[in-house]
Amino acid sequence: MATMESLIGLVNRIQRACTVLGDYGGEGMSLWEALPSVAVVGGQSSGKSSVLESVVGRDFLPRGSGIVTRRPLVLQLHKTEGGQEYAEFLHAPKRKLTDFAAVRKEIQDETDRITGRSKQISNIPIHLSIYSPNVVNLTVIDLPGLTKVAVEGQPETIVEDIENMVRSYVEKPNCIILAISPANQDIATSDAIKLAREVDPSGERTFGVLTKLDLMDKGTNALDVLEGRSYRLQHPWVGIVNRSQADINKNVDMIAARRKEREYFETSPEYGHMAHKMGSEYLAKLLSKHLETVIRQRIPSIIALINKTIDELNAELDRIGRPIAVDSGAQLYTILEMCRAFDRVFKEHLD
Ligand code: GDP
Ligand code: NA
Ligand code: MG
Repeated sequence: MATMESLIGLVNRIQRACTVLGDYGGEGMSLWEALPSVAVVGGQSSGKSSVLESVVGRDFLPRGSGIVTRRPLVLQLHKTEGGQEYAEFLHAPKRKLTDFAAVRKEIQDETDRITGRSKQISNIPIHLSIYSPNVVNLTVIDLPGLTKVAVEGQPETIVEDIENMVRSYVEKPNCIILAISPANQDIATSDAIKLAREVDPSGERTFGVLTKLDLMDKGTNALDVLEGRSYRLQHPWVGIVNRSQADINKNVDMIAARRKEREYFETSPEYGHMAHKMGSEYLAKLLSKHLETVIRQRIPSIIALINKTIDELNAELDRIGRPIAVDSGAQLYTILEMCRAFDRVFKEHLD
């Protein structure tokens, strides 16, 4: 029987193929929308990009104060058996980047290419794949932060524009929401929770993440939130300590940051008793497990959808003939083969 890893790996490959080729799901729910992904939601500078980086375990996202993330970043993580870790952008498919500082620079440059060096945003996503033995198979989406007011250089509609863009990702029933709230602000004012509650009222696909625990006022703590008393979600809240701006400026790396975070929880008088259920590594595990559950539940409907896709692709191939050359027909053939492999793996899971 195929492992769950290979199953999620196939999901990723299909998602990528769909991105490259356009969506062949036909009417009704498309193949892309049938497959799960994880998106971050939250106010500006709440720590969204930092949390995603920690979940991924690699430094590559632009972070900082102010509006840094200005285009959606759709990031596919592919777990490999070994070999060198590399990243590849959809807009530059033949370039394998092994330097993650270069990945960050390319995200910045590609953002500027569309929006200029402004405070404007664009809803045209950047697609990036990371291949590594050290990641879990996941598709994660980094999004611009929700704001309350337009600042100098931004159109008046920006508040609404950002909210609509973020909503367009998180309203999809298959989107798992990482709702990021900073612990040094009142949870009742959290933009993340407000939007998550709107699109997922039952809370079944929302994970509450509380960042900046280290920045809370002395004498206060976040136990009411973390223990679910302030705002109850179906999944447990996870507290996080990301790198501070000073850490970023000093180039504190991921390994050191995780060690510091673990020490923070283990030695904390308030959170010590729940240390094993706190932190970025725990969040990554929680997410991966949830994703597996979701995929298992969806297997029958995904099989139906794939069969429909296979029929449609077959009809299309009959129409154009089965080409061997690298053209659109060959690409269709590739995706068809992938669908068949996908179908086989799913059926094995049902047995
Ligand atoms: P985003 O705008 O929501 O994507 O937030 P970023 O990840 O870019 O972080 C914004 C700023 O907050 C950066 O300067 C981070 O260093 C800082 N930051 C994020 N999370 C934490 C945290 O848990 N603790 C501390 N001290 N700083 C954090
Ligand atoms: Na920011
Ligand atoms: Mg960001």
